[in-house]
Amino acid sequence: MLNTSYKTIRPKILYFGTPVALITTMDEHGNANIGPMSSVWALGYKLVLGLGCNGKTFQNLVTQKECVVNLPSADLHQNIESIARLTGMYPVPDDKKALYTYERDKFSAGGFEKMSSQLVAPPSIKGCPLQLEAVFESYAPLDHDDEGKPDVAAVTVRVVTVRAQEEIVTGENHINPERWSPLIYNFRHYYGLGKHLGKTFKAEV
Ligand SMILES: Cc1cc2nc3c(=O)[nH]c(=O)nc-3n(C[C@H](O)[C@H](O)[C@H](O)COP(=O)(O)O)c2cc1C
Repeated sequence: MLNTSYKTIRPKILYFGTPVALITTMDEHGNANIGPMSSVWALGYKLVLGLGCNGKTFQNLVTQKECVVNLPSADLHQNIESIARLTGMYPVPDDKKALYTYERDKFSAGGFEKMSSQLVAPPSIKGCPLQLEAVFESYAPLDHDDEGKPDVAAVTVRVVTVRAQEEIVTGENHINPERWSPLIYNFRHYYGLGKHLGKTFKAEV
């Protein structure tokens, strides 16, 4: 057991262990972008994405209205980290200049391969075992910058089709949790899953 005394702290970030997602979007010229992120959750077929408003992913989603939420397996963490310092925004926004550089083609930069999506224009990422194709619905600003412009936003998208690698599918429409191993972002470190502990009463497989 860990020590049970507590300390009040103010962590710089609160990535307390969420799956990594790679959001693919298209810009107005038909150029495909990849935005690594981990602030994503699902309820039914709606997904909420927490996105910085000065990123290309946010801009493309709001203007082009479509994306694919590609869920990588744990073994892709090095490819993801190799595009972590890149942005598809040109010019690079002032507040990202110190840490980020512009890259038009993050597929090549990260060694990712495109595959055609079924219902949306942005390509899916080959090798990501789960690909959720989605359309933009709305966004709600969560915070504003000094000039009053939205800084970060909760973007709601609606999933229109799901593609899963056959190896992780069981029966017709279920994901086999024994086979699906998401990449977890745990306070800025990458982790795979630990061992199976149990299941909820609602689990059908
Ligand atoms: C593992 C990981 C998780 C991240 N999570 C988020 C996130 O949840 N929301 C976000 O806006 N940016 C997140 N980022 C940062 C973006 O990837 C970064 O701002 C990137 O430049 C966005 O690219 P874009 O401007 O081409 O969209 C994350 C980065 C990594 C590597």
